Amino acid sequence: MSDAHAAARLANLWDDAKATGMSEPERLVYRSNILGSDKRVTNYGGGNTSSKIWQTDPLTGEQVEVLWVKGSGGDSATIKLDGFATLYMDKLRALKRLYRGPEHEDEMVGYLPHCTFNLNPRAASIDTPLHAFVPKPFVDHMHPDAIIAIAAAKDSRMLTQKIFGNRIGWLPWRRPGFELGLWLEKFCRENPEADGVVLESHGLFTWGDTSKQCYETTIATINRAIQWLEGETKGQPAFGGAAVKSLRAEQRRAIAARLMPRIRGMISAGSYKLGHFDDSAPVLEFVNSNNLRPLAALGTSCPDHFLRTKIRPLVIEFDPAKPDVDAVLARLSGEIDAYRADYRAYYDRCKRSGSPAMRDPNPVVYLMPGVGMFTFAADNTTARVSGEFYVNAINVMRGASAVSSYVGLPEQEAFDIEYWSLEEAKLQRMPKPKSLAGRVALVTGGAGGIGTAAATRLLAEGACVVIADIDEASLAQTNEELGAAFGRDCVRGVKLDVTEERDVAAAFVDCALEFGGIDILVSNAGISSSAPIVDTELSTWNRNLDILAKGYFLVSREAFRYFVQQQLGGNIVFIASKNGLAASPNAAAYCTAKAAEIHLARCLALEGAEHQIRVNTVNPDAVLRGSKIWTGKWREQRAAAYSMHPDELEEHYRKRSMLKRSVFPEDVAEAVYFLASDLSAKSTGNIINVDAGNAQSFTR
Ligand code: NAI
Repeated sequence: MSDAHAAARLANLWDDAKATGMSEPERLVYRSNILGSDKRVTNYGGGNTSSKIWQTDPLTGEQVEVLWVKGSGGDSATIKLDGFATLYMDKLRALKRLYRGPEHEDEMVGYLPHCTFNLNPRAASIDTPLHAFVPKPFVDHMHPDAIIAIAAAKDSRMLTQKIFGNRIGWLPWRRPGFELGLWLEKFCRENPEADGVVLESHGLFTWGDTSKQCYETTIATINRAIQWLEGETKGQPAFGGAAVKSLRAEQRRAIAARLMPRIRGMISAGSYKLGHFDDSAPVLEFVNSNNLRPLAALGTSCPDHFLRTKIRPLVIEFDPAKPDVDAVLARLSGEIDAYRADYRAYYDRCKRSGSPAMRDPNPVVYLMPGVGMFTFAADNTTARVSGEFYVNAINVMRGASAVSSYVGLPEQEAFDIEYWSLEEAKLQRMPKPKSLAGRVALVTGGAGGIGTAAATRLLAEGACVVIADIDEASLAQTNEELGAAFGRDCVRGVKLDVTEERDVAAAFVDCALEFGGIDILVSNAGISSSAPIVDTELSTWNRNLDILAKGYFLVSREAFRYFVQQQLGGNIVFIASKNGLAASPNAAAYCTAKAAEIHLARCLALEGAEHQIRVNTVNPDAVLRGSKIWTGKWREQRAAAYSMHPDELEEHYRKRSMLKRSVFPEDVAEAVYFLASDLSAKSTGNIINVDAGNAQSFTR
């Protein structure tokens, strides 16, 4: 076997040394984790695993058979014991007596909580009867691309028989539920020699007498499919061969950064969307291919895939050999309108009495020849996962269209899944989005005291945040800490010197590529200096004006450019200073630069209003804790200016304030949040002092 072929095969990850000492439930977790660790075995969150385990009933003390099955939600790769639902097998079997037939199968879901063993709060998933009724103790249900390629081929029954003989059976398409569970049971009873079954347009079921045997059957079955597909497709160009060539990586990024904010602006009217960009090799192979348009039009097949990706992607017409992005931008809104009209027509054609109201009709997946794929969703994880699912669908189409014809699900079946009352109930149970959900913020000086506090506050309200800072070490640390606290999908760090035009442009490109655009700029990067005017070096003067005035101008100008393109309004918050309003001894350069910031903010508020861009200022004072400004020379210089010891400064400032209180980074962050959110939707050109009261800086 060549190295490439060996790499395409799944490794058997089962380690007896690890598994032997485990309890049966622990072995189920272990099996699930190693299965889920490879996306070729199953897509994110897709598929489920189960074990039927004899345990002591807490009520009677007797031994009872308990089904442990992956609960609703969650992902096999990371699932832990508490991710599994536990149900009495005798009660599940007894449900067959209550079953009134396929047209009533949804009502069976309501009985599942009554079968719960040991007060387990984890909700049982819709696939529970599929596992319960397979008369084998260990069952895997996976969504491997190689198997779905066969399951979604026009002659999938014949292919399954050809590849697997009688070892793996085949069942026609039926959406998951009680009836499919009964079909599986019947199949197993009639085919005792079989150790699995391919479900048309869906995935794979495999089983065994031990956890290990079940796992090994799953891996061997997928490997057999991979090997067979390799043999059949050898030497054949995928998707009818390449029609166009990819642009260079930096050209792809530049085009994506121009398009994504525009798309985002066009599809965020109902609720803000976040974007994800993918220009990996499998995506480019597909979008550049001759068969892109006919295959994309067929839509995705596995229900898991299209629930995230919508049935069809939008293909953006573009010729990378004559790259005319302006023409694409000019056509885009018409193309998205047409997609929406198409989706509305699909809804009207397929809706039944009692179907839930039509959901967001905008495309989720955008495919662009030569450039790659953009995916958009209400949150960044879903945008990323939707992209991953479309890559699964590409893999499926590659296999299916090479060995047969690829078929998507019939439209009505797809609709019935998309608008399934049980799916709708799941959506209704989702928590209300936070106040900044779907928004993207860039915080300059984000690795400093006030910047980190502001980023934290915005993240806590559901925003995605790019922290931008010149200090790489602090940036890496802050990025790590915020990612651990709020999830890696919603935080990015970018090195930026606000005085460098190129750095600033690159940081905004990162925002667009990582999240799809930008809504909030917190311009906060800063330094401080202190010296009597006669001792103020020109370099000190210039440095203050460079970072605090020019830097604030550069980031705001770039934000304006994006805001205007995106057409979703925009929000800028400047962190200026009390010193921008009140003169302070021995700090003329700093005070003057801060005053320039404040006036710049007012000018921008004036210019931004017609675009719904709001610009406001927060003026902190004496935020010693957490601030790097206050760790260096500035602290000593300020202490010297007031003829006191540096340790006395915090108390000095507290006493100097009218309210006799210290000001912390979190206090400043609260004002940033207020101004960055819709709470202050009708305020622009304003200043909020967060200084515990200082009559000198009262605005007038
Ligand atoms: P900090 O020193 O903790 O944070 C400032 C951050 O800006 C640092 O991480 C630094 O690396 C970054 N930075 C400096 N130059 C940069 C450049 N050229 N490009 C990109 N990043 C750069 O200080 P703190 O206290 O958090 O200050 C934040 C802002 O608040 C500053 O604008 C400061 O003037 C202002 N401010 C602070 C007050 C305080 O008492 N701490 C009072 C009034 C205003």
